[in-house]
Amino acid sequence: MPSLIEYAREVFRRLDENHFKVLRVIEANLSRYEVVPREVIFRESGLGQRAEKLLRKLHEYKLIWAPRGLERGFCINYNGLDLLALKNLVDRNIIESLGRPLGVGKEADVYDALSPKGERIVVKFFRIGRTSFRRYERHRTSLLSAHSYLAASIKAASKEYQALRILHPRGVKVPRPIARSMHVIVTGFFRGIELAIIQQLEDPLRILGDILENVRKARDAGVVHSDLSAYNVLVTPEEDILIIDWPQWVSPRHPMAKTYLRRDLSGLIKFFKRKWKVSELPEECSKLVEDLCGETFLA
Ligand SMILES: Nc1ncnc2c1ncn2[C@@H]1O[C@H](COP(=O)(O)OP(=O)(O)OP(=O)(O)O)[C@@H](O)[C@H]1O
Ligand SMILES: [Mg+2]
Repeated sequence: MPSLIEYAREVFRRLDENHFKVLRVIEANLSRYEVVPREVIFRESGLGQRAEKLLRKLHEYKLIWAPRGLERGFCINYNGLDLLALKNLVDRNIIESLGRPLGVGKEADVYDALSPKGERIVVKFFRIGRTSFRRYERHRTSLLSAHSYLAASIKAASKEYQALRILHPRGVKVPRPIARSMHVIVTGFFRGIELAIIQQLEDPLRILGDILENVRKARDAGVVHSDLSAYNVLVTPEEDILIIDWPQWVSPRHPMAKTYLRRDLSGLIKFFKRKWKVSELPEECSKLVEDLCGETFLA
């Protein structure tokens, strides 16, 4: 599979404004049709029959697909959605170029990138249902699910972006939100690696305290992470931290918020006990846990 970067570079050069116009019409009709009929594309793009040739090209580049046959109409896929989002971010002067992958996860691909000012930034592409989506494309069934995956990715991006917009200005250690376009978010870069894979720590308890403090600040700001783990905490060589990956956050008033908060903290504390041989939490940590969970639980 060619990497998104090579792919995007290649395809970007070969598309013009009209190709993007057609893609945009298909995306905009995502929720209205299973496959967007050709007539709708002809009409809404304002290009009429001229869209025919553009559609063929987009199909050839695998940015759209025609699950019911070319005559019936088209759907956009993740490739098309990626290109559309990138185009939007490039036009808004947010991204200058895309760099190497930083992490390819189950539900998202994260890339290093540069802003037009030469600043290092991070671009996260949501990929909900990616594996099943491929299967759907192959078997050409259950279009509704394919569409709903794309929609779910857009929703997840919007949700994570919202959390960062709430938390970053309040001084919670999360990535700085820069921009969002559909299923893609752009944030500041952080020079750290996942707590889960770090081999050496000067002061594990200080890191745990720092995480708990930030979890409390986030909760006070109205945000409970709900997928906190040692994989979603980045640590710099100076042992500063960043809590990432917020698409599944809930409000503290959510009926499950307490349960999620407990699960987040109990997993984290278990991790510190196992890997960093923490036997007893220092007073400040226990207090924070008690404040957050309403009890001093030793996971
Ligand atoms: N702001 C950032 N600065 C530097 N690296 C980052 C940043 N955000 C994410 N990364 C890197 O990308 C990886 C994946 O990011 P993130 O946890 O947000 O998504 P994900 O884990 O791929 O999603 P999923 O949990 O669904 O697989 C991180 O583990 C980290 O290595
Ligand atoms: Mg993650």
